[in-house]
Amino acid sequence: MRNQIIVCENHQEIGDVVATIFAESTTTKPNCVWGLATGASPIPVYKKLCDFYEAEDLDCSQVTTFNLDEYAGRGPGDPDSYYEFMHQHLFDKIPFKKNYLPDAKHSTELDELNESGIRYDAIIDKVGGIDIMLVGIGTNGHIAFNEPSDIISKGTQGVILTEQTRHDNALKFYDGNIDAVPKYALSMGMMSILQSNKIVLIANGPAKALAIRNALYGPITPKCPASLLQLHPNVTFVVDEAAYSLCK
Ligand code: PGA
Repeated sequence: MRNQIIVCENHQEIGDVVATIFAESTTTKPNCVWGLATGASPIPVYKKLCDFYEAEDLDCSQVTTFNLDEYAGRGPGDPDSYYEFMHQHLFDKIPFKKNYLPDAKHSTELDELNESGIRYDAIIDKVGGIDIMLVGIGTNGHIAFNEPSDIISKGTQGVILTEQTRHDNALKFYDGNIDAVPKYALSMGMMSILQSNKIVLIANGPAKALAIRNALYGPITPKCPASLLQLHPNVTFVVDEAAYSLCK
């Protein structure tokens, strides 16, 4: 299958389109394995999935999910964790078979994060890998917390966040307070992400325009992790006009 680009009018429409893709995956394979993302981009996707569930148009009782990443030292009970984000927006509203997130709560050193990442990858392998993976994109082209680098990351591992990413996330979630954003995280690697059967990338707003152009049409390089998706045979980019504006 050729990679697909769907240009939507706005963020809400991105949510509708992507939620429909994920809902359809459960029709063709009820015990589907989803990879899920956090951040501002996927919120309308999760809202629409909840609408489908409430309308009895979605059954996730056999679906297993794996999240892309978690901040070091955060987890269940911490309102700023990705664990709580996912419960607030999706997992407390729709019953799933099982929801996994990288376990970084008791890991603040890279070695400990790496060991936790190995355990996470073993669980993904055990269920047979990820059928459909939802990813956002950072303004610097990162995917999950795979930051621009000279090397391609492999499995789930401890990462050091860039100042750019900490700055972006501070603006979005912490009133610009960069000290509220941890310096480390646990993130699925690019190789793991590329092993998913299908990948759906979402992006909205003008701040993502350069990253989207580089991801779709730039050189394939870990300096722009999203460009590595060009190597995958089944990726759908679902973007709004503003995020697509530099591709015309
Ligand atoms: P966002 O983050 O959805 O909050 O814009 C995306 C990302 O940084 O991967």
